[in-house]
Amino acid sequence: MIQTQRISLNDPAAIGLLVACLARGGLAAIPTETVYGLAADATNGEAVAGIFEAKGRPRFNPLISHGSDLAMAERYALFDPLARRLAETFWPGPLTLVLPARLGAGLHPLVLGGLQTVALRIPQGPMREAVAALGRPVAAPSANRSGRVSPTTATHVLHTLDGRIDLVADGGPTMHGLESTIVRPEGNRVVLLRPGSVTADDLAAASGVPVVRRGEGDAIDAPGQMLSHYAPHGRVRLDAVAPEPGEHWIAFGPEPAAGLEAAAGLFQLSETGDLREAASRLFAALAAFDSPDIERIAVAPIPREGLGEAINDRLRRAAADR
Ligand code: TXA
Ligand code: MG
Repeated sequence: MIQTQRISLNDPAAIGLLVACLARGGLAAIPTETVYGLAADATNGEAVAGIFEAKGRPRFNPLISHGSDLAMAERYALFDPLARRLAETFWPGPLTLVLPARLGAGLHPLVLGGLQTVALRIPQGPMREAVAALGRPVAAPSANRSGRVSPTTATHVLHTLDGRIDLVADGGPTMHGLESTIVRPEGNRVVLLRPGSVTADDLAAASGVPVVRRGEGDAIDAPGQMLSHYAPHGRVRLDAVAPEPGEHWIAFGPEPAAGLEAAAGLFQLSETGDLREAASRLFAALAAFDSPDIERIAVAPIPREGLGEAINDRLRRAAADR
């Protein structure tokens, strides 16, 4: 348990406190025009892992990154003319765009859930002010424990996250009370991934192209739905006590008693057995060992509790038959 501080956004020092919290890798619940978001610096892997830990999310679903303006958003994603038109029409506001990510631009892989696309939006109000002052994007899912409803007041945030986050900024009830509309612009059409207060009619009027709902003649695109998605080339053996000769070893905690000398490679998730650190390094480990020449990967056991559930979920997908 940590002490959760509640501050009022009427306090002139509030934005400064939020920025200081985010800059040191803390977790802060901040209102947007839709719902309260649980914010962390999107470039800090351990901070982002902390979001999943605080929410008790059993999976590493990709998170929405919140920018302060189009220039910041363009540093992290590729905008074609349709995407730019939607951004210029609806930002700041309750619209999230799923766009090709500029990989290596600085967003932590946990934010993308291992995908090559990024969900971006520019919110209204204090969240935007905090992001602008921080100078970096902020990842923020709704500020509630996994499986509970999205909060529209600070008290509502505290109902499920008190003692699990550093700060909650009280800005009164949110304007929309419904999460943002999520779309994927595809050049000659807009795919609606999640309905919200920007409607299909609004999108069609602004874009001049058809708006189609996910599922209408579409291949599967729900991230993390397919069991073997994002799996590396090689076979993955889970809950291994020690590497067998020639295996690439993903370690967690202390070295195994034997076998390490014969391993073909080593990636340590967390020497001290810290789940937050391990979560922040998991996608890097899978990427490091994703190569056509690496045939066998073995992974040390990871505890199932807390963040371990999401780590094991992802490892199970990486190990699934394909
Ligand atoms: O209004 C909102 O959007 C709130 C406030 C806090 O901004 N945020 C929010 O975030 O609802 P979250 O994490 O609860 O919802 C993110 C949704 C998830 O359903 C996720 O699967 C989807 O966005 N998503 C994120 N990245 C994606 C991507 N690259 N491709 C497709 N879907 C993505
Ligand atoms: Mg949510």
